[in-house]
Amino acid sequence: MLLSFAKWLAATPLSQTLQAALWVVPAVQSVHILAIAAVMTSVWVLTFRLLGLSGRGRLVSQVSGDVAPWIWWALGVLLLTGIILIIIEPSRELTNAAFLTKMSLIPVAAAPTYVLQAAVRRDAALWDRQGAVSLAIKIGAVAVLGVWIAIAVLGRFIAYVEYA
Ligand code: HEM
Repeated sequence: MLLSFAKWLAATPLSQTLQAALWVVPAVQSVHILAIAAVMTSVWVLTFRLLGLSGRGRLVSQVSGDVAPWIWWALGVLLLTGIILIIIEPSRELTNAAFLTKMSLIPVAAAPTYVLQAAVRRDAALWDRQGAVSLAIKIGAVAVLGVWIAIAVLGRFIAYVEYA
C-alpha cells in the first residue's frame, strides 16, 4: 500500500518539479540537520540538569522553560522539512525500515518530554526544591534521551537501508 502511494506521489507535478531542482534536497536536508541539532542539544541540556550533571546553578524550571520552545519549534521544522523530503523521494522513505521505525519512535520520545515539561511548568516550586528529582525521573530522563538518540541514528541509517 505504501509502495503504490509512494509511486503515485513521485509522479505528481509537485514531486516532479522538486525532483528537477537538484539544490532542494541538500538545502532541505541541511535545515533538517540544523533542527536536529536544536532538538538534541535542548534534550541533552534538560536531561543533564535533571541528572545534576550540569547547569546546577540554575533551577530545573528555568532550564526546562528555556529549552522547551526550541524543542517544539525545531520539531515543527523537522516535520516540515521531512515532509518535503518525502514528497521528493517517497519510495526512499516510505518503504524504508529505518525511516518507518524512526517515525514510530518520535511520539515515544516527544510525549514524555512534553509531559515532563508541563509538570515542571505546572509546579515549578516542587521541581526546584533541592533533591526533588527522584531516581525514577532520572532513569526515565536517560531512557527518553536514549530514544531521541535512536531517532537520530535511524535518520542517518535511512540512506543505507534497502528500500523498494
Ligand atoms: C518530525 C518528523 C520527521 C520527519 C517527517 C523526518 C523525515 C526525514 C527524512 C525524509 C529524511 C531524509 C532521509 C534520507 O532520504 O536520507 C530524514 C533524515 C534525517 N532525520 Fe528526520 N524526520 C523527522 C524528525 C527527525 C528527528 C526528531 C530527528 C532526530 C532527533 C531526525 C533525524 C534525522 C537524521 C539524522 C537524518 C539524516 C540526515 C542526513 O544524513 O542528511 N529526524 N528525516
